[in-house]
Amino acid sequence: MPDRPYVIDTMISAKAIAARIEELAREIEAEFAETGKLVVIGLLRGSFVFIADLVRELRLDVEVDFLEVSSYGNAMESSREVRILKDLRGQIEGRDVLVVEDIVDTGHTMINVHHLLSGRNPAKLRTIALLDKPSRREVPFRADWIGFEIPDEFVVGYGIDFAQRNRNLGYIGKVRFTEDAS
Ligand code: IMP
Ligand code: MG
Repeated sequence: MPDRPYVIDTMISAKAIAARIEELAREIEAEFAETGKLVVIGLLRGSFVFIADLVRELRLDVEVDFLEVSSYGNAMESSREVRILKDLRGQIEGRDVLVVEDIVDTGHTMINVHHLLSGRNPAKLRTIALLDKPSRREVPFRADWIGFEIPDEFVVGYGIDFAQRNRNLGYIGKVRFTEDAS
């Protein structure tokens, strides 16, 4: 599939993303105002651009950590286990935590990560996703903050890849195949 020729059409501009992040940052600051301290956890690799821009908008005492989990191999498995490829470096017990994800699609990744991290007893655990494809959901998960709701399109850019490419685009684009597969 990556070898099929495609073009990328702009879906969300860099400017629109930046404006939305400013709005989200003000809401996040309000939510965590009581302690003023926050551990921001980026899910590797797709969230790396989003987390970089988001934390620079936050007027809070922020620590940054990263978590990488395997994508579920089999959607039929109802297991709540998630395989950790790279664990957090720090402890989150008793602390305020914000998990940052690129896209919520079926919801399996975030429901598992939420379950995993809540087991470590943070004081407050909140989630943010830049993009949400609600029409694709297989398990009930809703992030506390969403940048943009999008239709069921395959997107790339701003950290998000197609077969590891296009993460470096400054905007969100949708992949459009230019040849008929048949
Ligand atoms: P979920 O577990 O199905 O919610 O999967 C979420 C993950 O699937 C995201 O973090 C992405 O890594 C990947 N994903 C879902 N939709 C897209 C897309 O349109 N482009 C690239 N990756 C996607
Ligand atoms: Mg991801």
